[in-house]
Amino acid sequence: MPANPIVDRYRRPLRNLRISVTDRCNLRCRYCMPEAEYVWLPRRDLLTFEEISALTDVFMSLGVDKVRVTGGEPLLRRDLPDLVAMLAGKPGLRDLAMTTNGVLLADNVVALKAAGLGRVTVSLDTLRAARSKTLSQRNTHASVLEGIASVAPAGFTGTKIDTVAMRGVNDDELVDLTEFGRTVPAEVRFIEYMDVGGATAWSPDLVLSRAEMLSRLTDHYGPITPLRNTDGAPADRFELPDGTTFGIVSSTTQPFCATCDRSRLTADGMWFRCLYAVEGTNLRDPLRDGASFEELRSLITGKWTTRDDRGAVERLAERDRTPFIPLATLKSNPHLEMHTRGG
Ligand code: GTP
Ligand code: 5AD
Ligand code: SF4
Repeated sequence: MPANPIVDRYRRPLRNLRISVTDRCNLRCRYCMPEAEYVWLPRRDLLTFEEISALTDVFMSLGVDKVRVTGGEPLLRRDLPDLVAMLAGKPGLRDLAMTTNGVLLADNVVALKAAGLGRVTVSLDTLRAARSKTLSQRNTHASVLEGIASVAPAGFTGTKIDTVAMRGVNDDELVDLTEFGRTVPAEVRFIEYMDVGGATAWSPDLVLSRAEMLSRLTDHYGPITPLRNTDGAPADRFELPDGTTFGIVSSTTQPFCATCDRSRLTADGMWFRCLYAVEGTNLRDPLRDGASFEELRSLITGKWTTRDDRGAVERLAERDRTPFIPLATLKSNPHLEMHTRGG
């Protein structure tokens, strides 16, 4: 591992790589995949595990020491534990995590642990089955809860639950979800609804701001103490009077672009330097054309050292905000979708 990761124009290091292993998902959450039909990435373009591993080596040689496996839904990728084992075996990887919707988790959790996965984050927006069905357009709530319940017995710690908090949708469950997190045990993070690509149903009225979340939780629990952010995560962490901790990811009203060390690799090998970036760098073609380690290193270095993206901050300056990418544009370019570039 290099002592010093390469840095971008704002001196942000290259540290955190999110690897999407598939663009497919078995849910259709309204904040992410609300449409009836999607254009999928061609199968022949999907990186093999060997290709993902080779690219990860290049990223790690430039500073990456945190890797998150995402999707779509990563557990839809066949033999995912084999990839996890390849990644987990890399010396210098400080953190290897996975973000999943939990539907297939119970069946895979033991294999994932055995393969060396470090942490699991599960998306859970509601504790109510009927509401889950409306929100995800699928009847899978029981499997998700089963998946969450399987994580601790399999030996995982540091589990997180991601909840997109939406006004009028699940904003009456902040306390219930916090309480649920305690029983798992998992740290719940409430995420502001973002106007990212794919969120075609986004409107400012649906955003529950960090300030409002804190005010509602304070009404119930009493004074909340902010904690120092130690792991560079996008979530600001807080503590309740009884010691329970939770997080808020306020990408919409108080973005964290200033310290953003993350980039995203899609399942077909496009590399995006920002969640909101319209253009990515094709790493698949050079890799398949036989580019050397050094050539890939220099391609990535050139792109990261000139990075000046601050997508969420720029969105904040927008007046009369509507969804970031119009539906017709999304249909012509699936790489603009959040589910393609990793939720
Ligand atoms: P750890 O804190 O290391 O566990 O991971 P994480 O918070 O980076 O991962 P997770 O997948 O749980 O991300 C939480 C949520 O933060 C995502 O689902 C997004 O809603 C939001 N988020 C993640 N990455 C970005 C990003 O690059 N930009 C912005 N603005 N929001 C992001
Ligand atoms: N706003 C906020 N978070 C989103 N995610 C997907 N779409 C959005 C959005 N529009 C995140 C959620 C979900 C994860 C898979 O992706 O955190 O749990
Ligand atoms: Fe839901 Fe995640 Fe699938 Fe999007 S990628 S539809 S948020 S489970």
